[in-house]
Amino acid sequence: MSELIIAAEMPPTSTILVVDDTPTNIQVLFDLLDKSGYQVAIAKSGEAALKCLQRHIPDLILLDVMMPGGIDGFETCQQIKAMPGTGDIPIIFMTALSDPVNRIKGLHLGAVDYITKPIQHEEVLARMNVHLQLHHLKKNLEQQVAARTAALHQALEDLKNTQVQLVHGEKMSSLGQLVAGIAHEINNPVNFIYGNLKPAQDYIHDLLALVDLLRAENPQLSAQVKERIEEIDLDFLRADLPRLLQSMTVGTQRIRDLVLSLRNFSRLDESETKAVDIHEGLESTLLILHNRFKAKAGTVEFTVEKDYGDLPLVECYPSQLNQVFMNILSNSLDALDEAIAHHLIPPDHPPQIRIQTKRIGGDRICIVIADNGPGIDEAIQGKIFDAFFTTKPINKGTGLGLSISYQIIVDKHHGQLRCYSTPGQGTTMEIELPILIPSNHETLLAPTQVHSVL
Ligand SMILES: Nc1ncnc2c1ncn2[C@@H]1O[C@H](COP(=O)(O)OP(=O)(O)OP(=O)(O)O)[C@@H](O)[C@H]1O
Ligand SMILES: [Mg+2]
Repeated sequence: MSELIIAAEMPPTSTILVVDDTPTNIQVLFDLLDKSGYQVAIAKSGEAALKCLQRHIPDLILLDVMMPGGIDGFETCQQIKAMPGTGDIPIIFMTALSDPVNRIKGLHLGAVDYITKPIQHEEVLARMNVHLQLHHLKKNLEQQVAARTAALHQALEDLKNTQVQLVHGEKMSSLGQLVAGIAHEINNPVNFIYGNLKPAQDYIHDLLALVDLLRAENPQLSAQVKERIEEIDLDFLRADLPRLLQSMTVGTQRIRDLVLSLRNFSRLDESETKAVDIHEGLESTLLILHNRFKAKAGTVEFTVEKDYGDLPLVECYPSQLNQVFMNILSNSLDALDEAIAHHLIPPDHPPQIRIQTKRIGGDRICIVIADNGPGIDEAIQGKIFDAFFTTKPINKGTGLGLSISYQIIVDKHHGQLRCYSTPGQGTTMEIELPILIPSNHETLLAPTQVHSVL
């Protein structure tokens, strides 16, 4: 409360605008106010008062009601109340009329008080003082409310951001840990198999060679051996066994590649920036999403068209960037799923995701991920980067994918993330990244507030 009272103290000198057409009245008021330490401005008509207000805003207006020859006090009051910037200047009417109807009319038009002529000096000063005090208190309160509202607004924004960071952190680390954990678990046994395949191949080769030798040295086989040879179809077995081992080697090799991709995707060990091959990140992400490339409804397969340019290594936080690819590709897959489910894609127009990478200028690269899904309604295009904005059912989307991606690209990598979408035709997301993250963050412009260019 004390804050309020101190702040509401009257300014050193208040300016009073006196509007009256009678020179004697003006003189009396001028002397009184001047003597009491006020600054006084004079206007001899309603029109002059309105003009004066365009140049200077007084703290209070003393306004005569009866001003013959132009607009009267009531009309002047109405116009002052309607003008921008002057509506809340306290107005006190001065009237010789003892008629209560006119007094009430003045108050209805927005005046704060009235005084009757001939004026009583003490009364005028006392009433003016009360209204000046009230006016300053009101202004001060408004400022405080505005400041508190702004602070609350900021607090809400901060809270939202923190919440996004928390969920993001949680999502990232749990996904990363899961992937890294699985990769680790698979890695050991698969290496075990992979490591034993070659000796197994050699042993089998030796055993078969021995069988051949034995058969060559003993052409007369016993009936029992002959029967057994037929039973196991030895010739087929000999021919098939190396092929079988070969396909086991290929299969194991595939699992090893997959494990490598999973590790590459999670890259938990890399919290610092690293120069990486962007295509590797895209490929690992596609591999992880592989099983989603078959539409849920029906047997349609989504195709991926790649148009990879010649890119240099790009400095980035690799696992976070992979997270962005994952979020954007997942959105496209969701969109294509929806298009298929609602028969929005014509049969001669297969559902497709197109990934293009290119270098732009000497120091930036661009990754474009586009789909021919249903697109995004114009009405919500401006909201898709907002935290928790989703059009997906509960339990399906949290509405965080794009806002997290925006933070990662714009705030962490000083890049840009843009969305172009035409309803009915598809959506294109464009990621622009500097090849080197600028080290002096302060010299950078603040991240743009315009999330999407549509
Ligand atoms: N490729 C796209 N096609 C159509 N709509 C899209 C596409 N990408 C994003 N959207 C729209 O933007 C919204 C926000 O996307 P965002 O990735 O932030 O959240 P989400 O996918 O709904 O949920 P989450 O990613 O957290 O699981 C989506 O709900 C969807 O309406
Ligand atoms: Mg999403």
